[in-house]
Amino acid sequence: MTSRLLIFGLLVVSCSLALASDPSPLQDFCVADQNSRVLVNGVVCKDAKLAQPDDFFFSGLQLMGNTSNAVGSAVTPVTVTELPGLNTLGISMARIDFAPWGINPPHTHPRATEILTVLEGSLQVGFVTSNPENRLITKVLRKGDVFVFPVGLIHFQKNVGNGYAVAIAALSSQNPGVITIANAVFGSNPDIAADILAKAFQVDIGVVYQIQSKF
Ligand SMILES: *[C@@H]1O[C@H](CO)[C@@H](O)[C@H](O)[C@H]1NC(C)=O
Repeated sequence: MTSRLLIFGLLVVSCSLALASDPSPLQDFCVADQNSRVLVNGVVCKDAKLAQPDDFFFSGLQLMGNTSNAVGSAVTPVTVTELPGLNTLGISMARIDFAPWGINPPHTHPRATEILTVLEGSLQVGFVTSNPENRLITKVLRKGDVFVFPVGLIHFQKNVGNGYAVAIAALSSQNPGVITIANAVFGSNPDIAADILAKAFQVDIGVVYQIQSKF
């Protein structure tokens, strides 16, 4: 009996370690009820009988994002926030626009792998493996090329052309989350103390103040 309990315990532990992606749905769909005040892991379902075609619909990815910003890119997300029918389905997408030579700066999605395809233009893309190797895996993509960014790893894209570039990304979570490295590290609220960042980045504290002032 004790050993059965032990095996059961080990199974529970190993299952919870293996389930790193969104849980599978237990019904056909669970359209997000954004007005519910109940907090769950995901969003509460609205009554399935009240579901409408528009709950499974989003319009607007034909529109170019506004890339007039410091990095020269714009992400138009289609996650559970924009498309309530995505709730519990473990998937979402985004359109990414790039001004000439614009970048989508180094960032990570804590809850999703991303698969990206180039619709227009050429992109240099890359991701960095975890410690201790921190190996950069990078490639130049052209129209129609596809690249995958494994879950959690820091990745980026850069338009390596004189024209606009467009990509579509699919992500393995209804709510992938985004951590933009520069903003999280140098633009947190409140600030991470400058002496901590100076030691972490091995630079003079003045350099930290200068970078913090940009965020
Ligand atoms: C694009 O964003 C810039 C900077 O925020 C703004 O000045 C400009 O009006 C926007 N352009 C359009 C077409 O919305």
